[in-house]
Amino acid sequence: MKLILENIKELIQVEQKAKSWVNGKEMAKLPVLKDAYLVIDGDQIDSFGLMNEFPPNFRNEDIVMEIDCTDRLVMPSYCDSHTHLVYPCSREQEFVDRIKGLTYEEIAQNGGGILNSAMMLEKATENELFYTAVQRLHELSMMGTGAVEIKSGYGLTTESELKMLRVIRHLKENSPLLIKATFLGAHAIPKGYQDNRQKYIDIIINEMLPVVAAEELADYMDVFCDQGFFTVDETKQLLEAGAKYGLQAKIHANELGLTGGIQVGVEQGALSVDHLEYVGDAEIQSLLGSETMPTILPGAAFFLDMPFSPVRKMMDAGLPVALASDFNPGSSPSGNMNFIQSLACLKYKMTPEEAINAVTINSAYAMGLEHVCGSICPGKQANVFITKELSGYAAIPYYFGSNPVETIILNGQIL
Ligand code: NIG
Ligand code: FE
Repeated sequence: MKLILENIKELIQVEQKAKSWVNGKEMAKLPVLKDAYLVIDGDQIDSFGLMNEFPPNFRNEDIVMEIDCTDRLVMPSYCDSHTHLVYPCSREQEFVDRIKGLTYEEIAQNGGGILNSAMMLEKATENELFYTAVQRLHELSMMGTGAVEIKSGYGLTTESELKMLRVIRHLKENSPLLIKATFLGAHAIPKGYQDNRQKYIDIIINEMLPVVAAEELADYMDVFCDQGFFTVDETKQLLEAGAKYGLQAKIHANELGLTGGIQVGVEQGALSVDHLEYVGDAEIQSLLGSETMPTILPGAAFFLDMPFSPVRKMMDAGLPVALASDFNPGSSPSGNMNFIQSLACLKYKMTPEEAINAVTINSAYAMGLEHVCGSICPGKQANVFITKELSGYAAIPYYFGSNPVETIILNGQIL
């Protein structure tokens, strides 16, 4: 069946041939068609163009459904390339503790943070984790997200890490959203291993990875390479072990300091290095010429009151930048990619064009989906949304906190 979206005020992020990413000055350019149509055939994008060039024969085809998009914009669904949205429960007590003056690192050192989630996850059943995650995915899709990467990392034992990854697999099989799974056994050193870190690393390498690979539970592998978490040498050891099983890296790096995380990620051929609150010239140099996508997580920097990544400097140097939500109960309890764009514009001084490129084409690349979604391109999966009446795309980041989405189309189906 063909679905035709007509009289679109602005059809955003159009391309005839899928590109991998946009970088440097190109990020300021956003291809937009005004007064346009979009044809969806089955679950794929078929074609688009200007209304005054609309091929009349399309209307004669057998089963056609038309949607009038007067005064509305049409966008490719957002790709959220970094989330931890399978988790047992919220952690607002830590939020209150931080308001009263404790730091995120102090909370983590006292057994809160990731270890707190791990303790609660041990008790949660696969069913409970699945149904709460389904609700979160539903909420994200209502705000325009059509593809999500989800990490394990609240297990920290072989049994619980596998439980999380099986939940993610179940989500992949049952959700209308595109989902990628990332194995993050190296999210924190669990209780009891503080004095023997290598013992836990050996468990990840010798116990967890073989099962993750044998059951094909993950697309990528992550390590929290940062101050107080995993060192550069440990990260290298872990990523080399993952690579033997064909798992490409997507790592947490430089959130808490200039720790060498970006360099080790690039050296190990990571698809993305994420967070990047601390980026200097050496980090920029190592990213230039690589195929690693620098990914910024404004929600975490905002929520934890951390420095904002030097995104302008990175783009001026010619780098691409992706944006993701980092949706998780500790550092970013929101998966609203519209708000992420508002933060990108207000706090990182990205223009709306740069922010939109970062949440579509570039974040699709950061989760290995650049040929599947992230733009309005013939042959790509029909994951798009129609906005409410809006004056133009700059209104999306401008109305911070509000939801511009009116109609969601995933796999060519109206949700
Ligand atoms: O991306 N930085 C590491 N991990 C998560 C936080 C996890 C948590 O606090 O539960 C993050 O911010
Ligand atoms: Fe994260």
